[in-house]
Amino acid sequence: MYGKIIGTGSYVPQKVLTNDDLKQYVDTDDEWIRERTGIVCRHVMEDGETMKGMAVEASKRALQAAGVEAGELDMIIVSTVSSDLILPNTACYVQEQLNAKNAMCFDLNTACTGFMMAYNTVQTYINAGLIDTALIIGAEGLSRLVDWKDRGTCILFGDGAGAAVIHKDEQAVFDTVMHANGKGGSALSMEAGYALRDRAIDKAVSALSDKDRHLRTHIGMDGQEVFRFAVKNVPIIIKELLGKMEIKEQDIDLFLLHQANKRIIEGVIKRVGTTAEKVPMNLMEYGNTSSASIPILLDELVKQGSISEGDRIIMAGFGAGLTWAATYLEY
Ligand code: UT7
Repeated sequence: MYGKIIGTGSYVPQKVLTNDDLKQYVDTDDEWIRERTGIVCRHVMEDGETMKGMAVEASKRALQAAGVEAGELDMIIVSTVSSDLILPNTACYVQEQLNAKNAMCFDLNTACTGFMMAYNTVQTYINAGLIDTALIIGAEGLSRLVDWKDRGTCILFGDGAGAAVIHKDEQAVFDTVMHANGKGGSALSMEAGYALRDRAIDKAVSALSDKDRHLRTHIGMDGQEVFRFAVKNVPIIIKELLGKMEIKEQDIDLFLLHQANKRIIEGVIKRVGTTAEKVPMNLMEYGNTSSASIPILLDELVKQGSISEGDRIIMAGFGAGLTWAATYLEY
């Protein structure tokens, strides 16, 4: 027995940064960003807004859409790389805000693959007979992590949260393929700020060059390496999942891909041999919101009526780790 998604919700901050707005921080222009990424604008938190607050708001909307009371939740998982909390975990904060007192709560970090890993984890718990109903959230406040002087990264990312309620269902179908390659970790990395403090009580910090310090305390990325990794491996993992399930591309109604870059998505469409109509994009509006990108897209499509009951969907994510995964679901 597995679970089905019975409600979705999302939240993005109101403040919008256009490509032209970014000129105040870095030497860039609208045409370059649109051509190389497809991104037109991104939503970013203002003073006083928090990643954990966005997670709560998206969760409330998902619970309402599902018609589920917070007390019915057995588990809450938050996927994030950008929590504004180290302790307690963000999921416990969400639990307290929702009064979901029967839920076990934990966070996980698989970067942009994270929503799938939260989904897969819940399916495994349901299948083991340990839980019936869970809330999963992908929430990111990446505007607080990027270096606004680095044009190679700051143009890409945005803030937001997406959530889904999953409930056990005899009709539910689930399968997945997952991979990680720690050897590629340096392509997309960031050291926790406090990690710098543990080296001989700040001596090592003062010895760091400015470049080192920037790379360690902000997101550092080799964009071309991540690009190549994604265009190569996402089609392979989708085909791997189709092969494992003994189904074909024609059997899939929708592919929900991590919203990182229009050119990556176009590359995947070509290599998988599918059509653009089956691979919706919203990165134009939100940029790359890491583990929030797939649940925000899912929620938008549900609200627009573009997803119907029974639709066969493959979600596929890729990102830091390096990690990548593809998951099959029937809506
Ligand atoms: O969730 C996963 C997260 N990461 C990703 O998805 C990243 C994947 N990678 C990418 O999306 C692309 O590699 C980027 C969008 C980051 C960069 O695009 P690119 O086509 O790989 O550009 P590039 O790094 O090769 O740079 C080309 C040129 C360089 O100038 P020169 O050396 O040719 O004179 C850059 O300095 O473009 C320049 N450039 C920019 N110009 C204007 C780099 N960033 C910018 C910018 N505005 N923001």
